[in-house]
Amino acid sequence: MTEQAVNFDLQDKIYRLIQENPDWRQYLEEMVQYEDDHYRDEYYAGWEWKTVHTSPGSINRMISAGIVDFNESRSSRRSSYYSLRSREDTRSALQLGETDDTAEGGPQFDADGLFEMVIGHDRVKQLLRFSLKAERPVHVLLHGPVATAKSLLLEDIGRLPGAQMYLGSTTTKSGLVQMMINYKPTYLVIDEIDKMPTEDRQPLLSLMASGKVYRLQSGRNDQVSMQTRVFAGANDVGKVDPPIFSRFVKIAIPAYSHQEFVETAKWVLTRQQGLGPDMALLVANMVSQHTLDIRQAVYVARMAKGHPTRVKDIVDALWPQASGRVTPLRK
Ligand SMILES: Nc1ncnc2c1ncn2[C@@H]1O[C@H](COP(=O)(O)OP(=O)(O)O)[C@@H](O)[C@H]1O
Ligand SMILES: [Mg+2]
Repeated sequence: MTEQAVNFDLQDKIYRLIQENPDWRQYLEEMVQYEDDHYRDEYYAGWEWKTVHTSPGSINRMISAGIVDFNESRSSRRSSYYSLRSREDTRSALQLGETDDTAEGGPQFDADGLFEMVIGHDRVKQLLRFSLKAERPVHVLLHGPVATAKSLLLEDIGRLPGAQMYLGSTTTKSGLVQMMINYKPTYLVIDEIDKMPTEDRQPLLSLMASGKVYRLQSGRNDQVSMQTRVFAGANDVGKVDPPIFSRFVKIAIPAYSHQEFVETAKWVLTRQQGLGPDMALLVANMVSQHTLDIRQAVYVARMAKGHPTRVKDIVDALWPQASGRVTPLRK
């Protein structure tokens, strides 16, 4: 028997199939066990579906999925023998499932409904979920242009059990350290970390680097340990201290494309601002000619107060250069 190379794609496939078919876990465990116990047997031909307490239907689906093989040469009219495509990769995939979100280890919370109010950004949401549930702390920095939902995402994290929100621009040293010691938060959410005052940087760095916060108490330095995960947001990463910056996983949120802007603005205007779909689309389209800042679409909608004809007037007045109505000043 030759040593097989690790196949991460196959592991991932098996892992996903177990997520989709939770009853397969037990069958796959039995298959691994049976193969472990018998592959050295003299006339080993594989296992039959009964051996592993599954059904021919499940076996056929596993074959179509490419994770189980039919051992045609070893089978006869009476008995069909099968084997796992890769016993080791199946074993690894089963172990992956055990250290998963629902298992012991990472923080426990209901991820359904998290980021519900944020449209799109699927890649960002998935990375955030992975980091939120990691067993050991992972610190995450969301950065990108304004109005790309960074604060919205962070606010949702701030509502998780054990989370504390901190606005970078208002954090004070005693405030941050005292708060950390009082609450030992599971998640520390710092929006606008690029505006954080200098005094807060050392305690934050110490927290991120070693999980320790120091406070001076009656003349001596007290040390408090905590397993806090930091989730931060910034428009300008150039203003984040390099040692702090280096301790983050960086998630870049790109500016919206024209089409993403229209879709997002339309969603925000209907769902959060109560506009009808036609009016929302009109505002989103007209504003998108001039800016990709969702907030501007919200303001235009508020001023238009439901009058479609007003939308153009407002947009033309806000961006006169582009409308061509205002003659540019001559020298
Ligand atoms: N993907 C999105 N889903 C829902 N709302 C969004 C999205 N992007 C932007 N917005 C809207 O834009 C506003 C600004 O978002 P915010 O999270 O404050 O952006 P940032 O912190 O990136 O500047 C929010 O109040 C929200 O209404
Ligand atoms: Mg923000």
